[in-house]
Amino acid sequence: MFFEEKRIIQFDEIDSTNNYAKNNARNLPDGTIILAKKQTAGRGRLGRTFISPDSKGLYMSMLIKNRDYDLNLVTVIAAVSVYRGILKICKIKTKIKWVNDIQFEGKKLCGILTEGVFDTETGKINRLVIGIGLNIEKWHEIPEDLRNIITTIEDISGKKISSEKLCLEIVKNIEKLLKKTNSERGKQKILKEYKKNLNVFNKEIVLVSGNVKISGKIKDITETGALIIVDGENNEHIVNSGEIIFQ
Ligand code: BTN
Repeated sequence: MFFEEKRIIQFDEIDSTNNYAKNNARNLPDGTIILAKKQTAGRGRLGRTFISPDSKGLYMSMLIKNRDYDLNLVTVIAAVSVYRGILKICKIKTKIKWVNDIQFEGKKLCGILTEGVFDTETGKINRLVIGIGLNIEKWHEIPEDLRNIITTIEDISGKKISSEKLCLEIVKNIEKLLKKTNSERGKQKILKEYKKNLNVFNKEIVLVSGNVKISGKIKDITETGALIIVDGENNEHIVNSGEIIFQ
C-alpha cells in the first residue's frame, strides 16, 4: 500500500512536526511524513501559535527534497490537496481562504504552514516542509477566543474520521499535483481548481501584510498564487503574503 512505501515517523507528543522535519531535513528521505498526536509548540503562519490538543486533529509535516517541481505553486497545491482530501474522505465541501486556510462556513478547519529550508552553501531553498494542521474531533476545552473562529470535521459532519485516512489522501494529492507542475497545462489546471474554491472574490477586504494595509477588492490571482487587489482609486497591488480580513 502507498503508506508503506513512505517513511512515516510518528510521535505521541512533539514540539512541532515542522520543526522536526526542518531540523532533520538533511538526513530524512524525500517524501517523509512526520505525524504527532499532540504538539506542544505548534506553529502557524505569521509567527502565530497553532493549538494542537491531544488526538483531536491531524498534525503532519511532509518533507519535499531532491525533485523537480514548481516551488511557486506549493502553497496553492497544499490547499487544493487538503480541499480534495476533505471532500473525498469526509464528503465536506470547504472553501479556501487565501492563501491556504481551509474554511467551512467562514470558520477555520485547517491551517497550512509551508517552510523552505535554505542550503547555506547555495543560498537557495533546496528542501521544503509542508505542515498541515486539521481539526478533526470536537474539543471540549476550546479557548473562548477561538470558539467562533474554528470548527472541526466532527462539528460539521457529526462523525469521527480517521486522521490517517485523511493524511494518506492529502499526501497522495500533494504527490500527484507536484508532478503536474512540470507542464504548463498541469499548472493551469491546478490554479483553476484553486481559484474555483477560493472564497475571496467580489468582497471588500483589507489585506494586512506587516505594517502595510491595502483596502479593496480581489480581482484575480497571479500564475504563482499572489493576490491582485484593486483599491478604491483603481490601483492594482500584487501581494504575496499577509492576511485577508473581510469587511
Ligand atoms: C496556520 O493556520 O497559520 C498554519 C497552521 C499550521 C499548523 C501545522 S500542524 C503541523 C505542522 N507543525 C507545525 O508546527 N505547524 C504545522
